[in-house]
Amino acid sequence: MDHFDLKDGVLHAEDVPLPAIAEAVGTPVYVYSRATLVRHARVLREALAGLGDPLIAYAVKANPNAAVLATLAREGLGADVVSGGEYRRAVAAGVDPAKIVFSGVGKTADEMRLALEGGLFQFNLESLAEAELLSEVAFETGREAPVAFRVNPDVAAGTHAKITTGTADNKFGIPIGEAGEAYARIAALPGLKVQGVAVHIGSQLTSLDPLEAAFRKVGTLIDALRRAGHPIAVADLGGGLGVPYDPGHAPPPSPLAYGDMVRRVTSGWGAQLVFEPGRLIAGNAGVLLTRVIRVKPGVSHPFLVVDAAMNDLMRPALYDAWHRIEAVAPHGGRMTANVVGPVCETGDTFAMGREMDAAEAGDLVVFRTAGAYAAAMSSTYNSRPLTPEVMVNGADWAVVRPRIDIDRLIAADRLPAWLG
Ligand code: LLP
Repeated sequence: MDHFDLKDGVLHAEDVPLPAIAEAVGTPVYVYSRATLVRHARVLREALAGLGDPLIAYAVKANPNAAVLATLAREGLGADVVSGGEYRRAVAAGVDPAKIVFSGVGKTADEMRLALEGGLFQFNLESLAEAELLSEVAFETGREAPVAFRVNPDVAAGTHAKITTGTADNKFGIPIGEAGEAYARIAALPGLKVQGVAVHIGSQLTSLDPLEAAFRKVGTLIDALRRAGHPIAVADLGGGLGVPYDPGHAPPPSPLAYGDMVRRVTSGWGAQLVFEPGRLIAGNAGVLLTRVIRVKPGVSHPFLVVDAAMNDLMRPALYDAWHRIEAVAPHGGRMTANVVGPVCETGDTFAMGREMDAAEAGDLVVFRTAGAYAAAMSSTYNSRPLTPEVMVNGADWAVVRPRIDIDRLIAADRLPAWLG
């Protein structure tokens, strides 16, 4: 459930009418609802009740805005980070370093040093070579590095190929069949404290079955590792639970159903559980607010040219993702349209033949479920300003990232002396 609703015929974020934000900040603009973020964090925590004191490490990559991170940090969430940049953002926003998990397949020595010096819950290692490097860095800095291996369970997640991570030929983790040997190898490395096992098989999962299959394999592995003498106390089950994008499709499993499955599968593990949700927390807590520039005739349907483009919201171009498109002040009419942005690529198409609220030049529309992997993946392609972000809190709202305008983009470039 989210807090974007029609009130008196106008779409509001909590108690703020979206046209007020468009007027003040301009479009396109991302609008987040603080109450929705908080709600999602609490719903998940309640769904995980009875599992001890699990660490919920929000996947920062979904939405790294400082206001989002600070909101979640106050809810007691930790952070799953995949770069030195994300680590620094999380700490700067008030996330307790002791609740930070450092994931990612290409951690550098500098990133390892940063997290070792600032503190963290655990490194999720993805290869032996990485373990060896971390051992050296830990030794150099005189700190002990708490580690888990991310294992690749070879389970098909049943999601889009570009966001599947747990099949054998994906780049992620170590093959689960080689885990025994890998743990034996790192047990002897100085500076490492082996404490866990981690898994993450993909994103926007709409069935619990692949998750359950992966977790069962992890359970078996934990047993085997303990029998071999490794002190496995932590099981990081990753993220990946899908969110509803299209009300015309069956909704993905609820957090409650997910919690029930986890309770069933992990009972008796005697391990601290870690979760790394991203989309589940942030996805439906944001919309991308855009204005129709013009309506252009098309062969089959008119083109609704909006002022947001693929650089602002890449998901449709990258994953054929479906985002609900709604008028901010619907007047009851409907239309079938191709919704496109101004960027000079055919891929800059949000929807073809979409049945939607009628809209014309000057009208405001929103892309729903744009709180995760949306602003986070935006760029300035076509020399378009970087889209601003706003957070609403009840009747109050604030710009939480101003538009990075063209003057700033131009100023960031440098002419070499030979062109001066
Ligand atoms: N943990 C790890 C190690 C991950 O790689 C990810 C996401 C997560 C947790 C969070 O997954 P979530 O709960 O959000 O599904 N840009 C794509 C999604 C990429 C997901 C990458 N990894 C999209 O827009 O659909």
